[in-house]
Order: sequence, then structure tokens, then C-alpha cells
Amino acid sequence: MRTTYCGRLTAANVGESVRLAGWVNRRRDLGRITFADLRDRTGLVQLLFGSDDDALREAHTLNREDVVAVRGTVARRSAGNINPEMPTGEIEIHVDELKILNRSKTPPFLVDGDGTDTTEDTRLKYRYVDLRRERVQKALELRHRTFQATRAYFTEQGFLEIDTPFLTKSTPEGARDFLVPSRMHRGSFYALPQSPQLFKQLFMVGGVDRYFQLVKCFRDEDLRADRQPEFTQLDLEISFPSGREEIFDLLEGAVVRVFREVLGVELEAPFPRIAHADAIARFGIDKPDMRFGMEIVDVSPRVGESGFRVFSDAVHAGGKVAGLLVQGCSGYSRAVLDRLQTVAVGAGAKGLVWLKIEDTVTSPAAKNLSEQELRDIVDAFGAAPGDLILLLAGTGIEKPLGELRLAVARQESLAADAWKFLWVTDFPLFELDEEGHLTSAHHMFTSPHEDEIERLETDPLHIGSNAYDLVLNGTELGSGSIRIHSRALQERVFRLVGLSEEDARLRFGWFLDALEYGAPPHAGFALGMDRLVMLMAREQSLRDVIAFPKTANGMCPLTEAPMPAAPKQLAELGIEVSRMA
Ligand code: AMO
Repeated sequence: MRTTYCGRLTAANVGESVRLAGWVNRRRDLGRITFADLRDRTGLVQLLFGSDDDALREAHTLNREDVVAVRGTVARRSAGNINPEMPTGEIEIHVDELKILNRSKTPPFLVDGDGTDTTEDTRLKYRYVDLRRERVQKALELRHRTFQATRAYFTEQGFLEIDTPFLTKSTPEGARDFLVPSRMHRGSFYALPQSPQLFKQLFMVGGVDRYFQLVKCFRDEDLRADRQPEFTQLDLEISFPSGREEIFDLLEGAVVRVFREVLGVELEAPFPRIAHADAIARFGIDKPDMRFGMEIVDVSPRVGESGFRVFSDAVHAGGKVAGLLVQGCSGYSRAVLDRLQTVAVGAGAKGLVWLKIEDTVTSPAAKNLSEQELRDIVDAFGAAPGDLILLLAGTGIEKPLGELRLAVARQESLAADAWKFLWVTDFPLFELDEEGHLTSAHHMFTSPHEDEIERLETDPLHIGSNAYDLVLNGTELGSGSIRIHSRALQERVFRLVGLSEEDARLRFGWFLDALEYGAPPHAGFALGMDRLVMLMAREQSLRDVIAFPKTANGMCPLTEAPMPAAPKQLAELGIEVSRMA
């Protein structure tokens, strides 16, 4: 049906006879001639129909998104008609034969528009039309190339790609499970995997040695721009690791290769590392955006004895007084400062103290602080006239400081156009959940620092773990850890997170058993492919790089899933749905 693709034609093809097929992008009638742009995956080319030719009268009836095939000759455009904006702008096809293969209804939005002529819901409802947009096509191609480069790399590194079951038992990663009812075992449910975590560990027990998989994972959790209920991980695991460095090397190799092959960007490796505690102290967050500085400065030692009770009380209560230097921003208006205060308070701070450094220091707190204290604070920040200092006081001010830092960076567009990768290492083994219960900071299969194991039960919140995250420009791209490979230690960790022996046996007995049949030391990692592709494509949402994504409320506007099940299906499953008002 065709000899070439629209976007491949250039002036070098002038004189050639070609056949093309695709969609009508738009049509223009100019009296005796008709122009139309023909589109396929590679781009657009202009078609020219001479109206005296009977066979081509039909060109007048062409509408947007009609599907056509044409035969014609590549010709140079007349001088006035050259379009430098268009890759094929020097040429056009003088059409001899037009076949209309299928008519299209008027599309719900313009395929060559900027996407603002409709809502995202409508774009997703008609995703098959939306997929024709250049931006979406580019994202999908980038996704394909990223997946291919990743597969090639791990295959060359001696990994086997092996798939793992979707109908399985719960693999907890901190979210709710999606359950699938069993017809043959009424009242019993499979859980869709939140990740292949336990199966990949069994691969190591099973002697697979090096495993990877590009795999769908399912998590029923609150959705955000960077969270989908089903998403794709590059999941991997290795046996007998020489340490976490071996994982870092492998991942750096993969990412460097992907950026080189897909974007033509040469990344610098090894990526910098930072311990979790330092990341929190310096940036107030476990996934610092390193495209800008503005590190947290702790001034507690300078103001701990201040007559300003807000500061001295905070320090005496075991908290801190710390803040950020915002260079050149002493001119912030009340409205901007109020907005920043709202950010800090929303993240848990009691209030925000600001100091504008000009010839003198202006601050609502100035009258409470001595000359010397003000000078000390200014010195601690290295502030100069024109700068602004933002201070928080209290316990747990790291998170609000971290959010304040990001808010200021957004306000001032501080993020450089760069790819700033970072390894965050040595996460704590446990943290407290909202109800104050001990919970795994990464997941329950992560090993504690070996020299701290003896304090597991006595000081659990201060045990370090062999967990690490890969961060890119302030987004968590992936996580991994060196695993527990002894049943006794695994059982101790289960106990600490509140799993009774009975629960542990019921939920994970099959896995605990495996640890007793020659489980080697092993370690692994999982990288969110959708997030990687989103950042590489410079998109803001995972929905822009997933072919058929869900909306923020977990719906698919295209298929209208999820749907109530038919009564017959429910009866077969032995399920009754109680309708809550
Ligand atoms: P973790 O739960 O940190 O680790 O997940 C790894 C990476 O998967 C991506 N990710 C998501 N992407 C889109 N939508 C989501 N809802 C979502 N949830 C997670 C993130 C994240 O960094 N089994 C462990 C890994 C291991 O220890 O080997 C795991 O799944 O990019």
C-alpha cells in the first residue's frame, strides 16, 4: 500500500513516484487546487490535488482524520510555498490517485493542536486519537527505546529476564493490594503483586544468579502525577553481591547507556552519594533535588540562649533553629512571604521567621534579638545586603525546611537544566507509621547494618539498613537493598513490625521455608520505568508516557473501568456486593 513514510521525504526525493498512506491532518481548498497534509507516525507531508482531474474531485470532501492512500510524484514546492517550520517543507506530493480507505467522524480535538483545546479526560477517552499527536508518539517512541536499551544492557551483563506470576499472594510494599477473587476457591483471593520482590529472592535461592524483568506492578494507593495504580519497574536481583557498590555500578551503567542511546546525553558516573541522615539534615528530604544549592543552615548554637523565647525554647526542647538563605530576595512582598509561611506551616512548622538583609536587618523578630545575635545569624548564612533569610524553630523542622526549599526554588526557577542523579544510602531500617507503630522504612526483606543487629530489639529506631535509593532531579527513581538471607533474622524483623508468629507463617511461611534451603546472600533494586521515561521526555505526569493510563481517581476514561460486575459473574465467585449509601 505504500512505498515510504510521509516524514522521510526530502528534496532528495524530488521526481520519485511514491505511495503513501495515513490520516488527513487538514485540508485547504484554493480555487482550482486543493492542499491537504497527510500524516503518519513519522510526520506530515503536503499533498497537492489539481482540481481539473475528475478522479481527484473527491479531495474536496476530505476531512480531518479521514484515512487515505495516495499515489503521486515528489515535487519541489514553488519558492513562495516553502515552509521552513516543516521538516518536509521544501516538497509536496502531486497526487495522481487518491483512495479513501475510511472516513472519520469529526475528531473531539485537534491532533495537531497544542492539547489545550480539550480536557485530559476527553483526551484519554479518545486516547486512540490522542495517540496520533506528535508529542505522545515521541513519548511512546522514547519509552520503547529506553526499554530496548535497558534490555540489551542487562542481557549483556549476564542477566536472565524471567517473568513472575501476577495471580499470587500479597507482596507488601507499603500500599494496599488489588485482590482477584478465585472462582475455584470461593472466598479466596489472589493478590496482584505490588512488586516481584519475593519471587526474585526465590530466583536467587534457585540459583538464577542474575535476574531482571521489565514488569507491571500493582498498588492500590492514592494517586499523584508520579503514581499510577499499575506501573512498570525494571526489577533486578543478584546473588553473592560484593556490596551495594555492585548494584550502584550496574544501575549507573544502565542509566548512562540509556541516556547515551536514547537522548544522546553523556552522563557523568559514578553518581554522587549521600547518607540518608545527611540528606535530611542538609536538604530536609530523602530525595534532594541537586539542581540547586540552598542547603539548610543550623544556627541553634548561636541562638540557643537567646532572649527570643521562640528560638531558645525550641533549642532547649531538643529542637533546632535552622533555615535557608535566599539570595537576592530581600524584596519579597508580604504576599510571597505569607505564601512561604503557609508552605512551612502546612508541612508541620509552627511559623516562619524572616530576616531581610539590607543596610540594616528588618524582621518581625528583630526587636526580640540582640544586635550580636542578628549579626551571628547573618554571618552563619554568609548573607549579604539584598538577601533574605528564612528561619524555622522547633522539633521536626527538617520536612518543612525541605518543602520551603522546593517552594523557593520553584518561585525563583532555580533548577538548572541538568540531570542530577544521586544515591541516597543508609536509610534507617524502621520508621514509625501514623499510628506510632514500627514499620519498615524500605520493606521487611531489607537487611540491617550487620554491626547493629544485636540492638535490633532494644533500639530499633536507630538501626541503619542496607537500603538505597536512586534520585534524579528530586524524584525517587528507584529503591533497593541488600536482603536478609537468614530465616532467624527475617523472623526477628517480622516480629518487630508487629507480625505475630502465626501471621508470619500464614503470609510468608512459604518464603521463610525457602531461606532454610541454601539461600545465598543477595541484593537488588527496582527502578520506576514510567518515572524515568517521564523525566527523559520532560513531561510532568506519568499519564503522558503511559499508553493507556488511569486518571487521578483510578479510572480509565477509555474503557470506563472499573465497572460493576455482572450478577452472574458475582454468583460464580460467591461474592455479594453490599451497597453502601
Ligand atoms: P519501591 O516500592 O521503592 O521498591 O518501588 C521502586 C520504584 O518503583 C516506582 N514506583 C512507582 N511508579 C509509579 N507509580 C507507583 N504507584 C509507584 N510505586 C513505586 C518508583 C520507585 O522508586 N521491591 C522493591 C525494590 C527492591 O527492593 O528491589 C520496590 O518495589 O520509581
